[in-house]
Amino acid sequence: MSKPTSISLMQQTKSIRDISIQSKNILIRVDFNVPMDKDFNISDDTRMREALPTINYCIDNGAKSIVLVSHLGRPKGKDASFSLKHVIKRLERLLNREVFFADTIESAKKQQEINTHQIILLENIRFYEGETKNDKELSRKLANLCDIYVNDAFGTSHRTHASTYGIAEFVSQKVAGILLKKEIDSFAKVTHNPLRPLLLIVGGSKVSSKLRLLHKVLNVVDKIIIGGAMSNTFLMAMGYDMQKSLVEQNLVDDAKNIMQLAKEKNVKIYLPVDIVSTDSLNHPKNIHITPSQDIPEHCIAADIGPASVKLFTEVITSCQTVIWNGPLGVYEINQFSRGTFNLAHTLANTYAFSFIGGGDTTDAIDKAGQRDNMSFISTGGGASLELLEGNILPTFEVLDKK
Ligand code: 3PG
Repeated sequence: MSKPTSISLMQQTKSIRDISIQSKNILIRVDFNVPMDKDFNISDDTRMREALPTINYCIDNGAKSIVLVSHLGRPKGKDASFSLKHVIKRLERLLNREVFFADTIESAKKQQEINTHQIILLENIRFYEGETKNDKELSRKLANLCDIYVNDAFGTSHRTHASTYGIAEFVSQKVAGILLKKEIDSFAKVTHNPLRPLLLIVGGSKVSSKLRLLHKVLNVVDKIIIGGAMSNTFLMAMGYDMQKSLVEQNLVDDAKNIMQLAKEKNVKIYLPVDIVSTDSLNHPKNIHITPSQDIPEHCIAADIGPASVKLFTEVITSCQTVIWNGPLGVYEINQFSRGTFNLAHTLANTYAFSFIGGGDTTDAIDKAGQRDNMSFISTGGGASLELLEGNILPTFEVLDKK
């Protein structure tokens, strides 16, 4: 489990409630990386709602201006489909006030100077090439927008980017937002002597980063269920032909190593024994349910099959603490949502402590109608896995300490 020392170090971070923000320009790094459908309708706004206490705190305590900075997705350059314009209406509705949308840092700066007590939302910070490179110049430019830097983007707190990390070097006061504090305090509670067996359910599509994390998590958990796109790479490592499914070929050896290591450490890994596959995700003409090793030619794995649901149900009900990160199929599409939804129902009906991490997982649990039946829902997917490994999240390293 996470070393109490690293968690308690992070708990020593100064919070926005510990300083005076009256008449100050505040930059809040939020995580508005919310799931959307193809028409840009937000399907789960949890991350936005969770940022409200900090934003409202700044408004109520007389901040001069509030600049909100976030990323959305992983755009390659300035791709309009990743614009944060898509979240502005929802944000205005949630805050019940007007928000100025700034296309650039310069336009945010100008707006800040001509109009005090305004909330400004900056365009997707990943439109700037320097963001993910933690570029000093970009960090400096962002810092120029504020007297106080507040990090409230728990979901992105494992990234050393310009807006989550580099900026702190150029701001004299840098503190944690209310959400960041809440997440770390809740995590401390969950990870302190968890009830065992402890199960990790991992799925979703960010295969490479999660594979890396699995290595260390093997020291922490008793059982692991792997589903979704993640499992394709593992099934291929077992010698199965995954046909047209999403597979990270270059990580097949890694997957083999993880399975070997798990055996040595006596951690049980469960993979889907059957798969729902299709010729096309968006326009399926044929849908098949087959054993995992018999996916029909040219088909794509889209969900776990009924036998896997049965097997995973047994695993879940045998555990006392369950951490779930990543859906087990393409749950956004009705025909491929059953695996994820059935396991959400199973988890809701156990007595286990259920810890849900990540935007897509939360969205899936919500769509299954089980949000209120989970013990804790974190806004961080990758970030919560890093915590589980016992790492100090870089974001916390650069914030002021009490
Ligand atoms: C997330 O959704 O996990 C966070 O917003 C971080 O996004 P990233 O994995 O693209 O950095």
